[in-house]
Amino acid sequence: MKKIGILSSGGDCSGMNATIRSAVRTALRMNMEIVGFRKGYLGLMKGDCFTLDSKVVSGILHRGGTFLQSARSPEFRTPEGQQKALAMLKELGVEGLVVLGGDGSLSGALALHRLGFPVIGIPCSIDNDIPFTDMALGVDTALNNIIYAVDCIKDTASSHARAFVIEVMGRNSGYLASVSAIATGAEFALVPEREFDLAEICQQLRARYEEGRDNAIIILAEGVGNGQTIADSIKDAIGFETRVTVLGHYQRGGAPTVFDRLLGSRFGKKAVELLISGQQGLMVGLSCNAILATPLADVIKGEKRPQDEVLRLAEVLGI
Ligand code: F6P
Repeated sequence: MKKIGILSSGGDCSGMNATIRSAVRTALRMNMEIVGFRKGYLGLMKGDCFTLDSKVVSGILHRGGTFLQSARSPEFRTPEGQQKALAMLKELGVEGLVVLGGDGSLSGALALHRLGFPVIGIPCSIDNDIPFTDMALGVDTALNNIIYAVDCIKDTASSHARAFVIEVMGRNSGYLASVSAIATGAEFALVPEREFDLAEICQQLRARYEEGRDNAIIILAEGVGNGQTIADSIKDAIGFETRVTVLGHYQRGGAPTVFDRLLGSRFGKKAVELLISGQQGLMVGLSCNAILATPLADVIKGEKRPQDEVLRLAEVLGI
């Protein structure tokens, strides 16, 4: 193998640049050429790529997002789109591909693998819903962003004796909501994985208000529903004046934490080493602090990553 490619696809996350930098440096050290495709599978289908050398990837480690840019591509989900990408890879002389992304992007990687093309996936999604990795890339930075925001909101909530419903991302996963609630001492985490009784929550908030407590924080996973709807349905029952904050895409950006810089660097190196050693159709993942590889087919057919331990911890802590 003399030439490989790399792309970032789907929702971006902090740590992607560290991953790309590490993959490039590993490839160069092994005397391989490496090209970066712009905007994920979109760029791949068009052949929109450029050579990555040591200089191109210097000065990007500490930046959030992905300097290769990212996109979601409905065309690549079709067999025609996948054939187009395959033909482009052959035309460019690219013999292996590293794909950074979440479950949709990893399904795309699996499709290329099934067409006989060597691919290694890297799990990147703030939702932390990808099986076979303890943590996906970007989760730790997103959590730190959330925690900073919640701490700020708590200050103003206390000054005004208010309850805040804070909506966080995660699609159908409640990981960000559960962990940020644990780490900020929030009163409630409303997550898709656990049923809750809004009337019971209102009673507990009312009791808190009557005890003279000066704030209440409810962290809502976006997969449960809309923050404003929840706030409207509790505001007349709880005593506290109620406000809503939707953290939105703020969560996905910013300088990556040390954890994500290191995880990305480890993932990038391992992915290239696997490709060069002739292994393919795998996803790298973190397991008990080791970097392991799992067949993409198992990742894609696997159940969503279980949140049981975190949910139990939240319950024990009264969240
Ligand atoms: O999957 C990552 C994620 O950030 C989800 O948490 C969120 O629902 C979604 O992507 C937002 O997607 P977009 O950036 O396309 O609005």
